[in-house]
Amino acid sequence: MSPSDLPEGADAAADAVRIRPFAVADTEPVVALWRAAGLVVPWNDPYLDIERKLAVQPELFLVGEAGGALVATAMIGYDGHRGWVNYLAVDGSRRGAGLGARLMAEAERLLAERGCPKLNLQVRSTNAGVIAFYRSLGYEVDDVASLGKRLIPDGPRHDQPRPDESRVDAP
Ligand SMILES: CC(C)(COP(=O)(O)OP(=O)(O)OC[C@H]1O[C@@H](n2cnc3c(N)ncnc32)[C@H](O)[C@@H]1OP(=O)(O)O)[C@@H](O)C(=O)NCCC(=O)NCCS
Repeated sequence: MSPSDLPEGADAAADAVRIRPFAVADTEPVVALWRAAGLVVPWNDPYLDIERKLAVQPELFLVGEAGGALVATAMIGYDGHRGWVNYLAVDGSRRGAGLGARLMAEAERLLAERGCPKLNLQVRSTNAGVIAFYRSLGYEVDDVASLGKRLIPDGPRHDQPRPDESRVDAP
């Protein structure tokens, strides 16, 4: 590749990222990315979350790869009524280059292709930056209370470092 072929600027850097379905060999880099992005919390075991996703619509679990490095993830699902995106994460060194928006566009494309009429997201109301990110992509804050009931407790794993809970978005 000659220097003139090299991508220039932030948008070009994001273009160098290949988005593809998750493969089992991605497990450790994915968990490392989630930890670095503050998405791993004591009540969700990331390895179990990956295992569960591989049992349900595994083709909707996307990763971004650049030069052999894993730099982004998005865990997408369609329940027959609404589409959902969890574990959206972009490596810290690649943020602000349009990669998060690209992953969300791909999520929307895959969901629309399946006939999904609406995509829902859960973000902590205190996380103004991520809400601004989604608003810039056309998402609006719905006037609903998000309720949840745990059916299978994962419990804390002793080998996991304690996350920075102020950055957690996925309940
Ligand atoms: C949220 C996240 C995925 C965004 O990825 P990204 O690649 O940096 O986002 P993009 O570069 O595609 O940004 C798209 C738009 O959102 C805006 N945006 C992104 N992060 C923002 C922030 N913190 N505050 C305000 N606006 C933001 C960008 O300015 C851009 O707007 P523009 O199109 O008008 O220029 C990334 O910051 C991340 O991984 N955060 C940690 C994990 C996390 O919190 N995930 C969300 C779980 S719900």
